[in-house]
Amino acid sequence: MVRPMKPEDREAVLDIVRATGMFTAIEIQCAEEQIDIFLGQPGQQDYSLVVAENDKGQVVGYMSYGPTPLAEGAYDIYWMAVAPGVQGRGHGRKLVSWLEDRVKDWGGRLILIETSSQPKYERTRRFYLSLEYREVARIPDFYKPGDDRITYAKYLESKERN
Ligand SMILES: CC(C)(COP(=O)(O)OP(=O)(O)OC[C@H]1O[C@@H](n2cnc3c(N)ncnc32)[C@H](O)[C@@H]1OP(=O)(O)O)[C@@H](O)C(=O)NCCC(=O)NCCS
Repeated sequence: MVRPMKPEDREAVLDIVRATGMFTAIEIQCAEEQIDIFLGQPGQQDYSLVVAENDKGQVVGYMSYGPTPLAEGAYDIYWMAVAPGVQGRGHGRKLVSWLEDRVKDWGGRLILIETSSQPKYERTRRFYLSLEYREVARIPDFYKPGDDRITYAKYLESKERN
């Protein structure tokens, strides 16, 4: 099940972010800031966070997303992570599919995800490709020399346009 994040999920989500071993201290701080904006500023619309629960109601993953500034019908997935012990079991796919369904409901048309070209993100890149996201842009040496920023995109058929 995918549902909006609640204040009581905060530590579970941060534990997952840390446990992936993928993120630097600054990246973890950035993830934490998004969590606190979402939980602490109910009126804001820039960042939304959802969690994935397993059959026992435990939080096993999360995703943050929001409308892409100045673009019509476009949404960014800013961050996502699934607990290392349960990766590869479909939780990530469920989170992304959930957002695709919502974006279609809202008449949106495009979802964007950025990631790094570092070898440690190989599995993450394959994950996006397997969900039919395609590389549409790459900025060489963006994060640091030898570390490109890759943008993946998926254009959706909105329900309203069908
Ligand atoms: C990337 C991540 C969120 C994916 O979540 P997940 O729950 O492990 O992924 P899923 O089990 O839903 O995989 C969905 C599909 O991706 C593909 N996939 C997943 N892992 C794969 C792998 N190691 N090799 C090839 N394809 C893979 C599969 O095709 C899978 O399809 P299936 O469900 O038909 O088997 C998760 O692995 C993660 O938290 N990684 C570390 C943090 C990270 O990189 N976050 C993203 C950057 S912000």
